[in-house]
Amino acid sequence: MNPLNHVAIIMDGNGRWGLKHKNSRNAGHKAGLITVEKVIKETIRNKIGFLTLYAFSTENWKRPKKEINFLFSLLESFLNNRLDELHKQNIKLKIIGNKNFSKKLNQLLNTAEKKTLKNKKLQINLALNYGSKFELLNAFKNLQKNKAKINEKNLRKYLQTADVPDPDLLIRTGNTKRLSNFLLWQLAYSEIFFEKKLWPEFNVKDYNKIIKKYKIIKRNFGKI
Ligand code: IPE
Ligand code: IPE
Ligand code: MG
Repeated sequence: MNPLNHVAIIMDGNGRWGLKHKNSRNAGHKAGLITVEKVIKETIRNKIGFLTLYAFSTENWKRPKKEINFLFSLLESFLNNRLDELHKQNIKLKIIGNKNFSKKLNQLLNTAEKKTLKNKKLQINLALNYGSKFELLNAFKNLQKNKAKINEKNLRKYLQTADVPDPDLLIRTGNTKRLSNFLLWQLAYSEIFFEKKLWPEFNVKDYNKIIKKYKIIKRNFGKI
């Protein structure tokens, strides 16, 4: 059975779900948050140490301002309401991505990271304003600036996931088969599951079904 230390998820399909059921994309984002909570709980139950959630990409700024504002207000209220609870559950929250939001949101994110820094049960990497190309370019720039030798070990030090093992498993919901600029380096050997269900419909049973399938895959890493 394959060990499972790190699950990464592209939580896609909120907008379509919202339009279909409530005639509002934003209602889909709100519903998606309930799935986030369920998946966090189940990740802990499965004793998985790292969970990386793609919440907002560097390309998502191309969306209407109203939707963007709603997404960030949702994030703000989630942190305001749930941070203590996450902390109590021994969860460490780390933001990956470029933290150049409003002063207020940046402060909130920094506080959340600081408060939960020493927690050990589960590390949640929340990908916010995250783009893999930006991350990699930045890493190469840093290597150059520090006159470090360009090799895998040194490059890794400058990735936002420097202290995090690469994902064993990537799940993308929403019936689309693409990576959308997510963890391009880190996913080099991950097992990938594309799920037809939209993110708000994705449930604990679906999650466990994927985990079960993942566990029996023959992972080669180039060997036979
Ligand atoms: C994913 O759901 C969540 C974010 C990108 C914030 P979408 O909003 O992309 O939902 P669809 O793909 O349009 O249905
Ligand atoms: C990927 O979903 C980003 C997140 C889930 C945050 P998108 O809906 O933005 O991806 P594309 O644009 O369809 O590739
Ligand atoms: Mg989408």
